[in-house]
Amino acid sequence: MSSQSTPGAAGQKRLMAPDIAAKKGVEPIVSLTSYHAHTAAIADKYCDFLLVGDSLGMVMHGFETTVPVTLDLMIMHGKAVVRGARRALVVVDMPFGSYEESPEVAFRNAARVMKETDCGAVKLEGGRRMGETIRYLVDRGIPVMAHIGLTPQSINVIGGFKAQGREEVQWGAIEEDARIVADAGAFAVVLEAIAEPLARRITQAIAIPTIGIGASAECDGQILVMEDMLGLSPRVPKFVKEFGRIGESIDKAIGWYAEEVRKRSFPASQHTYAMKTVAGGGEGARANKSARDTKKPKTGST
Ligand code: KIV
Repeated sequence: MSSQSTPGAAGQKRLMAPDIAAKKGVEPIVSLTSYHAHTAAIADKYCDFLLVGDSLGMVMHGFETTVPVTLDLMIMHGKAVVRGARRALVVVDMPFGSYEESPEVAFRNAARVMKETDCGAVKLEGGRRMGETIRYLVDRGIPVMAHIGLTPQSINVIGGFKAQGREEVQWGAIEEDARIVADAGAFAVVLEAIAEPLARRITQAIAIPTIGIGASAECDGQILVMEDMLGLSPRVPKFVKEFGRIGESIDKAIGWYAEEVRKRSFPASQHTYAMKTVAGGGEGARANKSARDTKKPKTGST
């Protein structure tokens, strides 16, 4: 770890954007998306950075795409993740419409995200069209992670969540995107849904780390949407490996809970507050006794 770390909560060293950049060629970078404090606290033990991705619009809020996500929503989740994570760098996605208009608008909104969430960097989508904006933000103190290849905020132009660079004629433009964001000062770049040979080529060509999602093991690091890799998402892309089956565990636990409530076996006495016993007995003691003596009412259900 470089000397650029700053203290996080409880004296932990919080990684910063240059620490992530310095891992290129040294060790693989591990990251996940995160949207809430408690899962951020768990992922923090294993990840170099946590991305508060605008995928939260689809994963947490049931939108069909990331387009409806607002700055306020990103800030709300960003604050929660920063509270949960102590060591990992927290990167917050700039949502659609908050940065494309001009470098000045991007700066105003990115500065708001950084001030209100206390995150360490922002991410924005786009290659050459974002070069000027990335330079503007970095020059003014905002570390930027870029995102090229499949850029989900442009879904209405692209026409679907399609892998990029599967034909060699597409390579030149995507490679140029990577070079431009690196030259503009981005500290890392997400490569989403990019064919393996192109991911390898880009990773070798640029000086900043490539973070792959559906872009092969050739990248300098990997990111997945946490809910996807935990087995909590109803549909997952080809590139996701489910490392857990949390959806099944939740289904089982909620089914068990519902059954016990219907049978009146939950809550049991250990989950129930009795009255405080007062010296010489009294209403409280009698209430406790009568509660214990009361037979559970019969129900017509299972
Ligand atoms: O929003 C998100 O989760 C992302 C990842 C796919 C990198 O941008």
